[in-house]
Amino acid sequence: MRKPNIAILGATGVVGREITQIVDEMKIPYNEIKFLSSAKSAGTEIKFQGKKYIVEEAKPESFDGVNIVLASAGGSTSQKFAPEIVKRGGVLIDNSSAFRMEEDVPLVIANVNDEDLKKHKGIISNPNCSTSQLMLVLKPLHEKAVIKRLLVSTYQAVSGAGLAAMKELTADTKANLAGEPFENKCFKKPISFNVIPQIDVFCENGYTKEEMKVVNETKKILHLPSDLPISCTAVRVPVYKGHSEAVDIEFEKEITPDEVREILKNSFGVKVIDNPDNYEYPTTRDAAGVDPVFVGRIRKNLAFKNGISLWCVADNLRIGAALNTVRICRKVIEMDLF
Ligand SMILES: NC(=O)c1ccc[n+]([C@@H]2O[C@H](COP(=O)([O-])OP(=O)(O)OC[C@H]3O[C@@H](n4cnc5c(N)ncnc54)[C@H](OP(=O)(O)O)[C@@H]3O)[C@@H](O)[C@H]2O)c1
Repeated sequence: MRKPNIAILGATGVVGREITQIVDEMKIPYNEIKFLSSAKSAGTEIKFQGKKYIVEEAKPESFDGVNIVLASAGGSTSQKFAPEIVKRGGVLIDNSSAFRMEEDVPLVIANVNDEDLKKHKGIISNPNCSTSQLMLVLKPLHEKAVIKRLLVSTYQAVSGAGLAAMKELTADTKANLAGEPFENKCFKKPISFNVIPQIDVFCENGYTKEEMKVVNETKKILHLPSDLPISCTAVRVPVYKGHSEAVDIEFEKEITPDEVREILKNSFGVKVIDNPDNYEYPTTRDAAGVDPVFVGRIRKNLAFKNGISLWCVADNLRIGAALNTVRICRKVIEMDLF
């Protein structure tokens, strides 16, 4: 197996730090590794596998000789550097939404649609965090009973909006408890002791961009018909880490809650916690810092024929971003696609 030279772009951000940690945990093979940021954090020291590295400011020349770039530095940064990376023969695995819906860019959840990786032309996209955790759950159920309609309501942690948003939750909470005024910057409304029904900007159809990402990315990853009805309501909650989702699925074929439990118990990346009699169901705290997508509250949906409702929780920074990025990196190495 060939070993790549790897660059982590956005290494000083919330997702970049997590990527760095998971590259270590998963023992990703590499020849050389480098850490890149904007000018602001250039010079920062990073300790990785017992060695000290100095974070460098990302410039086009930074990608000379780099085979795989793991990027989480925002859409405009990815757009700026993608041509430089591809021109130098590198593969960009990108966390931003910049290329996700482009025809020739595979949008991949590892172990769900790995075959799509073979079609890459230098750029591979990592899906949005709320889509990501859902795919590992929906894929095996879709294979068994065929999805006909999907409704998703999300309860998303502030870390999904980056480091500044996490700091804002802390500062806003302290100010609120002290009875002091606080000016929120990351969110349109105060986030402490509040629930905000807006993530990203509103589209013409009344949905937000975040909600439309769930609709469109789900169809692309699972190869669903473009007119399959999917609806999402995305909500920000005052939680640091972990996205939760209430999911209602209508299937073409009959499927029972017991069958769903059995299928998901044997599915990659999923852990079922579902014993309501003992108050056993997953919460965001169960998911923070660990890999599985947890599923519980599996029950027959009363509104649909062949309907199932379930509750699904995962660490948005891991499966929703960094873990899947690193899993894709491992697949690219194993499938010799760089
Ligand atoms: N947080 C999530 O759950 C999540 C999930 C999926 C996808 N994403 C995506 O991942 C990306 C990063 O998110 P985040 O939450 O980690 O944000 P963040 O905490 O704000 O970190 C941003 C990182 O990008 C770097 N950066 C910014 N501008 C740059 C530039 N011009 N050139 C090079 N590096 C630059 C920053 O470097 P400095 O330290 O120098 O500023 C920092 O390392 C975004 O595209 C986001 O949409 C996030």
